[in-house]
Amino acid sequence: MNRLTRNNASPASKKKPSHRIQWSDSYTKQAKSEGFFARSVFKLQEIDKRFRIFEGIKKFSNPKILDLGASPGSWVQWCLSHPLSKKAHIYTIDLNPLALKGHKRVSQTIGDLCQESIYQQQASYAPFSLILCDAAPSSTGNRIVDNAQSKLLHDNTQRYIEYLAKGGNFVCKIFSQQILNNMMNELKPKFAQVRAYKPRASRSASREQYIITINKLHSANFSRMESEDHVYFDEIR
Ligand SMILES: C[S@@+](CC[C@H](N)C(=O)[O-])C[C@H]1O[C@@H](n2cnc3c(N)ncnc32)[C@H](O)[C@@H]1O
Repeated sequence: MNRLTRNNASPASKKKPSHRIQWSDSYTKQAKSEGFFARSVFKLQEIDKRFRIFEGIKKFSNPKILDLGASPGSWVQWCLSHPLSKKAHIYTIDLNPLALKGHKRVSQTIGDLCQESIYQQQASYAPFSLILCDAAPSSTGNRIVDNAQSKLLHDNTQRYIEYLAKGGNFVCKIFSQQILNNMMNELKPKFAQVRAYKPRASRSASREQYIITINKLHSANFSRMESEDHVYFDEIR
């Protein structure tokens, strides 16, 4: 199992990413000039500007953000610098390490977010005030295989909503209109607001859209594994 949890990321502005990054269009050039690891940061900025997703964090005295599919880490950089998440601790999961190293407010898990042990591990950090998911399965070029992989990823991503605190917000990238419609229908009873949005920074050729859900209506409710025991934890209502 390729799993590693650590707490050693450093501010993006101080160190260059170790990843080989391709810089091409105007958003990628802008990201580079502003010190961000990826152009994806502008999608999150647009989503935040329009839906005020970070406003929700103000409700929590000990805010925690979970970022799924976080590497190389431009969303993490944005979360670290956002005035409304200055006190938040950021937990990340990705198959690949972050380009960010050694930051005391970042803990990364390297591995597959669909893996049961990784899902269970997050219970020890939950409940989260905000959950972000920009995960994208690598494309095989075969539409049937790609759709099946997307569905698996999104079904697993949706499980993490159990770890979202009451009043929390959730943002998730989706590649299929059908998955988007199904997810919106499933999430409407659970959140005060459920929206779909394609940011301008998203390439027009890409099928990606984001689902944005605001203000979870029910408390997090999950079992927390501690040693051999299952300790059932229910957030205060
Ligand atoms: C578009 S990138 C995310 C960019 C990131 N938001 C940023 O701002 O730097 C998509 C990420 O999803 C990750 N990913 C895809 N499938 C995954 C899975 N099953 N578990 C964990 N990470 C996954 C990939 O490794 C990749 O780093």
